[in-house]
Amino acid sequence: MIFYFSATGNCKYVAERIAHATNDTCCSIVESERSEQNTSYNHEKNHIIGIISPTYGLGIPSLVIDFLKSLELDFSDNTYFYFVATYGTTPGHSGYYANKYLKQNTKVEFNAYYSVKMPDTWTPMFDLSDKEKVDEINRNVEPQLDDIISHIQKRSYGDFMKNKIPHFTAFIYKPYYDHMRKTGKFIVEDTCIGCGLCAKRCPINAIEMKDNKPTWVKDKCVMCLGCLHRCPEFAIQYGNKTKKHGQYTNPNVKI
Ligand SMILES: Cc1cc2nc3c(=O)[nH]c(=O)nc-3n(C[C@H](O)[C@H](O)[C@H](O)COP(=O)(O)O)c2cc1C
Ligand code: SF4
Ligand code: SF4
Repeated sequence: MIFYFSATGNCKYVAERIAHATNDTCCSIVESERSEQNTSYNHEKNHIIGIISPTYGLGIPSLVIDFLKSLELDFSDNTYFYFVATYGTTPGHSGYYANKYLKQNTKVEFNAYYSVKMPDTWTPMFDLSDKEKVDEINRNVEPQLDDIISHIQKRSYGDFMKNKIPHFTAFIYKPYYDHMRKTGKFIVEDTCIGCGLCAKRCPINAIEMKDNKPTWVKDKCVMCLGCLHRCPEFAIQYGNKTKKHGQYTNPNVKI
């Protein structure tokens, strides 16, 4: 079973590609929680369990932490656990934190860690407006995935993450991500048509429609930027740079 969280499709694509190649099944963390399935899953002997997550603020999204903390797994001694972080610049300490929360809850640790460099959806900083550059980054995803798939098929053990940063900087994650998570900088432009998709799709119901306009009802959210990147009118902005940095969803999946 492969569990993934994906706001803009990168992790969904990675999950689907790996699932297809390894004859596995994907499960969206958000959809499984919405359908009120609990986080208890049974696994046959020798099964493989993958967690695929974006890197947020040099660590992992709050929603993935909550998932790892509440996951109830029935696994055997032979179960192979792997973690894949997608990232734009550095996967930072995502593997370290994913392992910390998995271990805290289940006492098991990941056997292998992988990373995939993809378009960086943190557009308050990064520019995704040049389609050719974005397409080039996505083309380079393919050899990275081939490599990861071949490791998973061999059940390789080890840390295969690329572009990590030194472990002594791990303490940065919490304050850095906490700062990013503040919803106060969201702006709704007049082009909003009041369709309500942003509110409907927000994974933690941080948006409510009031007078036909989205309103943030939580001071902090996951900050997945799904609302910004998936708005049909590109009417949601965060700060003053996202407009010129463009909207992005992974072109290879429906999200
Ligand atoms: C709030 C936020 C923080 C991010 N922080 C990082 C980061 O620390 N390092 C990095 O390389 N990419 C970072 N990214 C980029 C995402 O990890 C990357 O684009 C990921 O592939 C998005 O996955 P998704 O399309 O499945 O949602 C961040 C993106 C967001 C929205
Ligand atoms: S998705 Fe966009 S257009 Fe639709 S309500 Fe939200 S901000 Fe407005
Ligand atoms: S408000 Fe937007 S950025 Fe925050 S969790 Fe919801 S969809 Fe993601």
